[in-house]
Amino acid sequence: MDRRNFLALGGLAAMQAVKAATPAQKSAATQNQLITRRIPSSGEMLPAVGLGTSGPFEVGGDEESRAPLREVLRAFFDAGSTLIDTSPMYSTAEAVLGKLLTSEQQAKAFIATKVWTPGSGGAAEQKGIEQMQRSMALLKHPRVELMQVHNLVDLDAHLKTLRRWKEEGRIKYIGVTHYTTSSYPDLMDIIEREKIDFVQFNYSAGTREAEKRLLPLCADRGVATLINRAFEDGNLFSRVQGRPVPAWAGEFGAKSWAQVFLKFVLAHPAVTCVIPATGKVRNVLDNLGAGVGALPDAKQRAQVVAALA
Ligand SMILES: NC(=O)c1ccc[n+]([C@@H]2O[C@H](COP(=O)([O-])OP(=O)(O)OC[C@H]3O[C@@H](n4cnc5c(N)ncnc54)[C@H](OP(=O)(O)O)[C@@H]3O)[C@@H](O)[C@H]2O)c1
Repeated sequence: MDRRNFLALGGLAAMQAVKAATPAQKSAATQNQLITRRIPSSGEMLPAVGLGTSGPFEVGGDEESRAPLREVLRAFFDAGSTLIDTSPMYSTAEAVLGKLLTSEQQAKAFIATKVWTPGSGGAAEQKGIEQMQRSMALLKHPRVELMQVHNLVDLDAHLKTLRRWKEEGRIKYIGVTHYTTSSYPDLMDIIEREKIDFVQFNYSAGTREAEKRLLPLCADRGVATLINRAFEDGNLFSRVQGRPVPAWAGEFGAKSWAQVFLKFVLAHPAVTCVIPATGKVRNVLDNLGAGVGALPDAKQRAQVVAALA
């Protein structure tokens, strides 16, 4: 399938057609199509739609629960995407990923995990080191691409280790995360004060606070952004329940509400990668379809916001 045919088919349909192609054709067709964004601190390009694991990947060891996730990972990597966000906070998610990722997928994966040590007091630094070593072992990914301080817990203790590990080449990038708008002043403080590669926070068509100061600051300081809660944990779908996707969404290639919401986020120039969580193949393909083709302009973004009013 050539580039023009791929574009003509559009998003999900194209990806399904690509499934029938040879691996080489598949890779060329899909990887050329997913929007990529530059990580400012290195210049490395990253596919702009990743995968979150909180919830859907927190399953047990039975094959029945894991089989759909294996298919989600297959579809995700086949489409040319790479970034998977996880955390030791997400119960079994790291172990499930470690078990399911094939060696080929491991080689392509950009793994973003976290260090999270609530209640560790003065022992936070050592607890963090042990936890990160355990994460890498569970993930079977000895050099994690991005290590983030989860919800800023014990930040100063962990940043010291993260800097050292980055210098030693044990991790590639360092970052911090949160998921509430009330954390933005702290996140901005850290961006001003510390040298970090990534910051992860919440941003969606329904919660646009990050547009005011946080996203512009990230752009200004050259910090890559990972966007969580782009669907507000699924709540945005309830706000449009029973309503068909508006005709105007077709102007920027959105075929589902999920694509409307993700394309809204991706249209912000300071967004590096959005990480919707799903455990369903049809939804991961839907979400990846948002990373193909056009993005809404200012007028169309206002229409998305108005649709949620
Ligand atoms: N502090 C932190 O560091 C922090 C906090 C929050 C989140 N995160 C990260 O960000 C990721 C995403 O955030 P989130 O999990 O809060 O929620 P989210 O991505 O806003 O929403 C996930 C929900 O949307 C549904 N969904 C996904 N794709 C869909 C589609 N195409 N159509 C319809 N429904 C769809 C999922 O259900 P199905 O499984 O049924 O598809 C799930 O219920 C997390 O998994 C985690 O990796 C980090």
